Amino acid sequence: MIKVIVCENYEEISKKSAEIVAKQINEKADSILGLATGSTPVGMYKELIEMNKSGKLDFSKVGSFNLDEYYPIKHSDDQSYYYFMNDNLFAHINIDIANTNIPNGEAEDADAECERYEKLIDESAGIDLQILGIGHNGHIGFNEPDEKLITKTHLTALTEDTIMANSRFFASADEVPTAAITMGMETIMKAKKIILLASGKNKSDAVSMLTDNYIDTSCPATLLKLHPDVTLICDKDAFLK
Ligand code: GLP
Repeated sequence: MIKVIVCENYEEISKKSAEIVAKQINEKADSILGLATGSTPVGMYKELIEMNKSGKLDFSKVGSFNLDEYYPIKHSDDQSYYYFMNDNLFAHINIDIANTNIPNGEAEDADAECERYEKLIDESAGIDLQILGIGHNGHIGFNEPDEKLITKTHLTALTEDTIMANSRFFASADEVPTAAITMGMETIMKAKKIILLASGKNKSDAVSMLTDNYIDTSCPATLLKLHPDVTLICDKDAFLK
């Protein structure tokens, strides 16, 4: 069952989730984090930056694996998740960049890159805490709703829905990449602990499917019900349909 924390607003989601990340790192200095992009975790990253700057949190031994990356995309593209992570977190904390990992949007061979990434996670000590956002269609990472979901890191086509949703970050929908490399469902489920952040009314349909007794591949996040340690941290707008 997914545990639920309903917060008053976005600010509270950011604070609560940052506290959980900080606790993880304070208990285990060399924690491996699974990191997410999108607008939802930005507030949490700001809180973590503050903690680091004020000397309350040390990232020097922390490692990380990001969930996904557009494909193909240049690291220098300001819409790449590579750029996002540097801009929103890595450049502002004392993490060793050599210990951070993001699927390579510049790789020549996407399938080989997916294999490399999955292997890298397998050969690591394992993700201690995975942070997830959720698409309004219920996707996690870029595991889009479908009859069948893929277990391992893979190249995926983005749904029209996701392209439209993400077009708000681009000059136009035509500029949104149509494919991405994403951790698969099993890759995500291997994390020891997961927190899923959701904010705003446009997430309430997807969030409402997380609290019933069904698993449905048309809302990939519902598979998280099979994981022993998942906490949904959302605001009232996302919780109430
Ligand atoms: C993106 C990412 C997801 C993210 C989701 C929600 O497409 N691949 O990891 O959770 O969309 O984004 P936002 O937080 O901006 O609503």
